[in-house]
Amino acid sequence: MSSQPDKTIEALLLEKRQFPPRKSFQEQANVRDPSIYRKADRDFEKFWAGFARELTWYKPWKRVLEWKPPKAKWFLGGKLNASVNCIDRHVLGPRKNKAALIWEGEPGDQRLLTYRELLREVGKFGNVLKSLGVRKGDRVTLYMPMIPELPIAMLACARIGAIHSVVFGGFSAESLKDRINDQGAKVLVTADGGWRRGNVVPLKKISDDALSDTPTIEAVVVVKRTGQPVGFDPKRDRWWHELMAGASARCPPEKMDAEDPLYILYTSGTTGKPKGILHTTGGYLVGTYATTKWVFDLKDEDVFWCTADIGWVTGHSYVVYGPLANGATCLIYEGAPDTPARDRFWDLVERHGVTVLYTAPTAIRAFMKWGTEWPEKHDLSSLRLLGTVGEPINPEAWIWYQKNIGGGRCPVVDTWWQTETGMILITPLPGLTRTRPGSATFPFPGVRATILDPAGREVKVGGGYLAITRPWPAMLRTIWGDEERYVSTYWTKWSRDVYFPGDGAKRDKDGYFWLLGRVDDVMNVAGHRIGTMEVESALVDHSAVAESAVVGISDDLKGTAIAAFVILKEKKSGPPAAGLHDELRGHVAKKIGAIAKPDKLFFVADLPKTRSGKIMRRLLRDIAEGRVLGDTTTLADSAVVDTLKAQYEEKEA
Ligand code: WTA
Repeated sequence: MSSQPDKTIEALLLEKRQFPPRKSFQEQANVRDPSIYRKADRDFEKFWAGFARELTWYKPWKRVLEWKPPKAKWFLGGKLNASVNCIDRHVLGPRKNKAALIWEGEPGDQRLLTYRELLREVGKFGNVLKSLGVRKGDRVTLYMPMIPELPIAMLACARIGAIHSVVFGGFSAESLKDRINDQGAKVLVTADGGWRRGNVVPLKKISDDALSDTPTIEAVVVVKRTGQPVGFDPKRDRWWHELMAGASARCPPEKMDAEDPLYILYTSGTTGKPKGILHTTGGYLVGTYATTKWVFDLKDEDVFWCTADIGWVTGHSYVVYGPLANGATCLIYEGAPDTPARDRFWDLVERHGVTVLYTAPTAIRAFMKWGTEWPEKHDLSSLRLLGTVGEPINPEAWIWYQKNIGGGRCPVVDTWWQTETGMILITPLPGLTRTRPGSATFPFPGVRATILDPAGREVKVGGGYLAITRPWPAMLRTIWGDEERYVSTYWTKWSRDVYFPGDGAKRDKDGYFWLLGRVDDVMNVAGHRIGTMEVESALVDHSAVAESAVVGISDDLKGTAIAAFVILKEKKSGPPAAGLHDELRGHVAKKIGAIAKPDKLFFVADLPKTRSGKIMRRLLRDIAEGRVLGDTTTLADSAVVDTLKAQYEEKEA
C-alpha cells in the first residue's frame, strides 16, 4: 500500500534507466517476434487456443470462450486432466526420467523425483484419497510444509477430480478451521511439523485445534516430516507412509470438463471474511502454461526456482502447474533464506545450478540489507533470468537484484498478477521488452489492461485505477459459495465487463505500467495480502478491546507494516495492564497467524472519524508514520487527532 501515492508517482517518473534485452538472450528466447502483441490482440481467442493445442485433451473444445459478463467459460466442451498434463504427457516422451522436482529440506536433506516417480507417487496418493471416500468434486484441505508431498497431494486431487485447497502453513488454527468449514472439506492432509529457522512448526497440533469444530472432516492424513511426537486419533488420523505403502500406483485420471473446478485458494478482502477464489481446469492450465513458457523463457535444460510457498497463488501457478505443464525441472526449498546462514538461497542456486529464479521484493530488500558478501560467496553464473512478484519493487531493489544476483547479464521480469487472475497479466517478455526498473511494463499478449479514473474514463498518461478490460483464461470463476460477492467485489466498480483488481497504477507516455499498490483496505505485508478488517476483528475479539483501527504503513523491509490503534473497554480504562500490548499482538497471531501480527500497536482514547462515521485511515497512517497531519477539516472531533498525535509522540520518545 502506497501511503504517499503522489510522491511515488513522482519518484517513478524520474526513473529513466532502461534495459533492452541483450542480443545473446534475445537470439535464444522463446518469443522474439514483436508482432505477437498485435496478432494476439487482433484475435485473442485464437492466440489462447494456440497454447491450448500444445496441451493434452481427451476431447477438444467446441468454443474457446463464452463471455456473459461477468461470467466467463473457456474451452467449452473440452475435456482434460491437469495431472496428466503436468506428468503423464512428459512420461510418454523423452522427459520420463527427467527430474521434475528437486527438493531440499531446511536441515539439508534432499529428494529428487523424476517425472516417472512423480507419476507413481501421485497415482498412489490418488488411490489413497479414493480409499478415504474422496470423490470428484469433494474438497480436500492441504495444510502442509514445503515438502514434495504437497505438490503430490495437489496433483493427486487433480487426478481424481477432487478440489484442493491449500492453506498456508503459517495460518492459525482458527484460520484453518474457517477455511475447512467454508469449503466443507472431507479430508485434511497435514504433517507432524515443518522446519522453519531450525524450529518445528507444529502443524498437526494446530490441525488438532482446528478440527475441534469441523463436522465435514472424515479423515486426516499425516506426513511424518519432523518426527516429533504428535497426538493421534486412531479413528480419524492416518499416517501418509502407511497408506501409501499399500496403495497401487495405477490411478486412471478423471476426465474433467474444462470448467470443472481445480482448486480454491483463500485471499484477503476488505471485509473480515477471506474469499475462496475458485479456479477451474482448462483455462487455468492454459494460462499458467503459456505465461511460464514465455515470461520465464523456459527450456528443457532449465532449473526453475520459484521461491514462493505453495500456500500462496504464486506457488500454485509457478511452482506446480505452470512449470510442470512445461515439463520443467523445479527446485523446491522448505525453509528460511537465512538458515543456517544468510547465503542459503545462493548456496542453493550454486549447488543445484538454478537458471531461472523467481522471488519477491520483500526478499530482495532483505538481501540488500544483509549485504553483497552473501551472494559474493557463491558462483551464480548458472542464472540467466530473474523474476519478481508480490508487490511493487522499488527501482533501487530492482537494480540491486539485476546487478548483484543477475551479474548484470540476466533480464529481470517484474510480473504483476493476483490470486484472482491465476496467471501473470502484466509483465515484460524477456527477449522483447526494454525494461524499466520499477515497471511491470506491458500486458501479456492477448491481455487488455488500462488505467481508469473513478468515473471509468481512460487515463492515457498518468495515475488511476488498474482495470482489466478483456477476459483471460486463468481468471477466477467465482468466490466459493458467494457469487454475489464475486460480482460486487470485482465487476461493479465501472461496468460488468471490466475487472477491478483493487490496485492503483500509472501509465507513462510510452505506455509502460507502473503498479502503485492497493487502493482498498487490503495491506500487502511482505507480499502477502491481509485485510485491515481481518486484523481489526481479531483485536476486537479480545475481551479488553472495544474498538480498533488498523492501517498499513511504509516499511523498508516488508513494504508495508501493520499499525493498530486500539481503544480499550471502559471498565478497563486507566493505563493498560502491563503486558497487554504484547498480549494483543499475540492474540492476532493466534486468530489469524503470525503474518498478521501488528508491528506497532497504540492504545488510544478515540479514533478520528468523518462525520459519517468512517475511520480516517489516511490520518492514522500519517500519525503512525510520524508525518505532519493532513487535512483534518472533515473530522467530527479534531481534538481526537491532537490527542492521538500527542500519545504517538510520547510513545516514540
Ligand atoms: C500486488 C500474488 C506491484 C498487487 C501474485 C496485487 C504487485 C497483489 C505485483 C496480489 C507487482 C503482485 N507489482 N504489485 N509485480 N505483483 N502485486 O493475490 O497489489 O497474493 O493486487 O497474488 O499483490 O497479491 P496475491
